[in-house]
Amino acid sequence: MRIDVLTLFPEMFGSPLSHSILKRAQEQGIVEIVLSNIRNFATDNYRKVDDKPYGGGPGMVMMPGPVFDCVEHVQTQASEPGHVILLTPQGIPLTQDKVVQLSRLGRLILVAGRYEGFDERIRTGLGAEAVSIGDYVLSGGELAAMVLIDAVVRLLPGALGDGDSAADDSHSDGLLEYPHYTRPEEFRGMRVPAILSGGDHGKIAQWRQEQRLERTRLWRPDLYEKYLKNNPVQEKKKKS
Ligand code: ADE
Repeated sequence: MRIDVLTLFPEMFGSPLSHSILKRAQEQGIVEIVLSNIRNFATDNYRKVDDKPYGGGPGMVMMPGPVFDCVEHVQTQASEPGHVILLTPQGIPLTQDKVVQLSRLGRLILVAGRYEGFDERIRTGLGAEAVSIGDYVLSGGELAAMVLIDAVVRLLPGALGDGDSAADDSHSDGLLEYPHYTRPEEFRGMRVPAILSGGDHGKIAQWRQEQRLERTRLWRPDLYEKYLKNNPVQEKKKKS
């Protein structure tokens, strides 16, 4: 997969991209991540990329010209035009389902916004999809782009080490993950649940599933309702 990131602050990406799974995935050629500075595509002497909103109001809006030119420039660098995504709090929520869907594409072009937002013609003219990483407002789309990259790349075949697996992740089937324990068996008076060291794999699997259901019910009632709707059999089993 190739991921282009268009931003006014490419330096922000240095550290997250050069550690752990993201670093390894790039070294192994699983993903190529290319950073481009939108400001290099400004056309005036002040390298201006934002302007006042038509109709008045606070803040500045990202101008279409530099973003279009930057997107079109990176599109010449690979055969596939790529799926253009604008990171903005107005976008559709980034869920694990959405991450899986994006991980199946060959090329993503992520545009990180700053200021009040993007000129609307950037979204419509580029056929872009607006994506939000949550119902809160960040100072810009860069951190959101990093979150999306991390979530997508770890799903690419070969990105996770042998010992890791994405199959048991929280959200991979609509439930949160079960609690984990490691050594020591007793820590500051808190013991590992006996069932986990008992060696009965059937019982352990059942305990873990119960824990997943219970913590999803308590912490994410929205997900729990959805899960029950999609898994009515599970509900019956639980009641009987
Ligand atoms: N830019 C600012 N806030 C954001 C958010 N919540 N998601 C994506 N991009 C953003």
